[in-house]
Amino acid sequence: MAQPIRVMIVDDVLETRENLRKLLQFESNIEVVGEAATGREAIQTAKRLDPDVIIMDIHLPDISGLEATEAIRKMLPATQIIILTVQGDMEYMRRAMMAGARDFLMKPPSIDELLSAVRRAGEVALEEREKISTARDTSPLAQPGGATGRIITVFAPKGGVGKSVLAVNLAVALQTPDTTILAVDAKWAFGDLALLFNEQSGHTLSELAEEFDQDILARVLITHKDTGVQILAAPARPEDARPTAEAFGEILNLLRSLADYIVVDTGPPLDTYTLAALERSDLVLIPFEQDVVSVRNVRLALEFFANDVPREKILLVLNKFDKKKGISAERLQQFFRIPVHVIPEDKWVPHSVNRGEILVRTRRNAPAAQGILHLVRQVRQRLLQQAEA
Ligand SMILES: Nc1ncnc2c1ncn2[C@@H]1O[C@H](COP(=O)(O)OP(=O)(O)OP(=O)(O)O)[C@@H](O)[C@H]1O
Ligand SMILES: [Mg+2]
Repeated sequence: MAQPIRVMIVDDVLETRENLRKLLQFESNIEVVGEAATGREAIQTAKRLDPDVIIMDIHLPDISGLEATEAIRKMLPATQIIILTVQGDMEYMRRAMMAGARDFLMKPPSIDELLSAVRRAGEVALEEREKISTARDTSPLAQPGGATGRIITVFAPKGGVGKSVLAVNLAVALQTPDTTILAVDAKWAFGDLALLFNEQSGHTLSELAEEFDQDILARVLITHKDTGVQILAAPARPEDARPTAEAFGEILNLLRSLADYIVVDTGPPLDTYTLAALERSDLVLIPFEQDVVSVRNVRLALEFFANDVPREKILLVLNKFDKKKGISAERLQQFFRIPVHVIPEDKWVPHSVNRGEILVRTRRNAPAAQGILHLVRQVRQRLLQQAEA
């Protein structure tokens, strides 16, 4: 039997999504593979699932269904999009077509209209896939695997210096409509990355303890509602099952094909999960504070890394900087002989953490947000230089 048409539903109203799902569920040649409630979530989920057909509402809480359509069409040339709208207006239809939509339906569509639109779009998707696979087979640039995601690990030889805050804000700031970002919590006991994203769906690394493959992995990822960043959360409780450190390393390898950037937040400095992440990192961010213990530990860590993590891959981040604390950033830079990026001490950081908000989104002008955004530009530049080298 032919493969079913894989459909994704995008609407901010849960009831509408459920109604559409019900209309489609009895068709043996149609399978609803995913849903999204916002435009950004739609882009991220589509990138992950590569559906044949997307049924897309126009009015979404963040970016419009038309903008999401345009971004998805650029990214997934085979995927066909059917716009759902309450507007009967020609202007909307014209704009929907310009954005690359295949078809449009008035809300609520009848079952016949819906099924025939999905089948028509499904056929086009299949034809497009065949064209693409023929082109790929004959292309001299065809590459197996396509696992190109870059791993950025936030590591520190001392606790509480701002690793998790930095990881979350970095993940969000790195995102653009056509970049997929994954934030991974490698702090397997007491990991708090999902909490900082204010997303705790129950899916965690524990589900990968027995076995994992790309499909299982994709199901365990949580999508951050406001930004579409994907999260691989740490086990909910320290006694919960988890993969071995070796398996965790393999999981990171697999994640390289699911995202453009994988930001890893770490726990205790030399535990085996942290080491698995460091070994695979394209870039290592080391936040530290302006105190002698923190500075001494960074020096020891740099010596410990020696050749395993070359200096070109390291960015030092002086966090919670306050000139009243007495050691200047310039002195530290001379001491380490590695550029030191400064993020000031800022009351908006704990304030946003406590409200489940992400600083670079909700308080872009806060001093620490500015420091982080400046750092993100350096991160991009570093990765670009590496790619060119
Ligand atoms: N620039 C800053 N200004 C003020 N407070 C900050 C700043 N950066 C981080 N903090 C605060 O420092 C505390 C520790 O941050 P965070 O949890 O990110 O550290 P961590 O290194 O991940 O800790 P752990 O080692 O426990 O995982 C938090 O309360 C956070 O709000
Ligand atoms: Mg942390």
